[in-house]
Amino acid sequence: MPVTSDAISIEGVRKTYGTLKALDGVEFSIRRGEFFGLLGPNGAGKSTLIGIIAGLVRMDAGRVAVLGHDNRREYRAARRALGVVPQELVFDPFFSVRECLRIQAGYYGCGREYWPWIERLLDELDLASKAGATIRQLSGGMKRRVLIAQALVHKPPVVILDEPTAGVDVELRRTLWRFARKLHAEGTTVVLTTHYLEEAEELCQRIAILDRGRLKALEGTGQILARHPFRFLRLTLDGDFRLPPGLEPCVVSRLNGSLELKLKREEQPIGEVLESVRGAGFRIVDVRTREPTLEDVFLELTGERA
Ligand SMILES: Nc1ncnc2c1ncn2[C@@H]1O[C@H](COP(=O)(O)OP(=O)(O)O)[C@@H](O)[C@H]1O
Ligand SMILES: [Mg+2]
Repeated sequence: MPVTSDAISIEGVRKTYGTLKALDGVEFSIRRGEFFGLLGPNGAGKSTLIGIIAGLVRMDAGRVAVLGHDNRREYRAARRALGVVPQELVFDPFFSVRECLRIQAGYYGCGREYWPWIERLLDELDLASKAGATIRQLSGGMKRRVLIAQALVHKPPVVILDEPTAGVDVELRRTLWRFARKLHAEGTTVVLTTHYLEEAEELCQRIAILDRGRLKALEGTGQILARHPFRFLRLTLDGDFRLPPGLEPCVVSRLNGSLELKLKREEQPIGEVLESVRGAGFRIVDVRTREPTLEDVFLELTGERA
């Protein structure tokens, strides 16, 4: 295996379900040691792609390698390098949490030498007090913690988290981000899909945006934001507001006397916009500006809110 190989490389991946093109020629690489965000609206193909990477879903065409191991020709090596936390819960309910994790480690050929690591997982995910409880005794949030621990028992160098925080409480979300950050700091490649774009913005170094099976953007998080040269202006006006015709198309929302405009940074300087609003006879009560967030860029690229 060449040391320069990417954590995950994806080439020309296609997958159809009947007539639906779930993935339509997706191609990109995730670098070693990266904290990578895979974003996209519901149905974009994120979980399908993750299933293909993990070797659980068959692709119609294309090639995937994990740390340089082709995930079909060298399935075991590729699988061994990966820890995938799936979206759905799947467990044997009669084992205790600790047993469950030790058995799972065994599937990877990891014996007692991994037990200290399992104890650390229990600890980091705040599961230590439940280590002796059987899975069926656990609450939904606790089960999700086990699911995450289970994906990590073999200490994989590449970890994929598929919407691990969807529907979980704030506390678990915090625990999870803290742990993901720690893993990343220790050299693990972390791939995250999430609907919480502020979190992707904060955690991820690069972001891919997938939409209807195609890659819409792939860049550094900062570059993605910088490449969308608009900003927002929120005005509170006194009285009825129909803006001058030139500005009306810029309005993105109206709410109780205040409205938000989306302006092109170069072409619509804020001073000029304010002047033209005043010139049209409005009294401006309040002005605020805001830089675009990942959520805005996402909406711009996909036409949907995350
Ligand atoms: N097993 C399946 N059979 C048929 N269609 C599927 C199957 N799995 C996913 N799809 C469809 O493929 C598309 C992509 O789904 P998915 O990868 O789950 O998207 P995401 O994870 O981005 O929400 C969706 O339209 C979904 O309905
Ligand atoms: Mg999904």
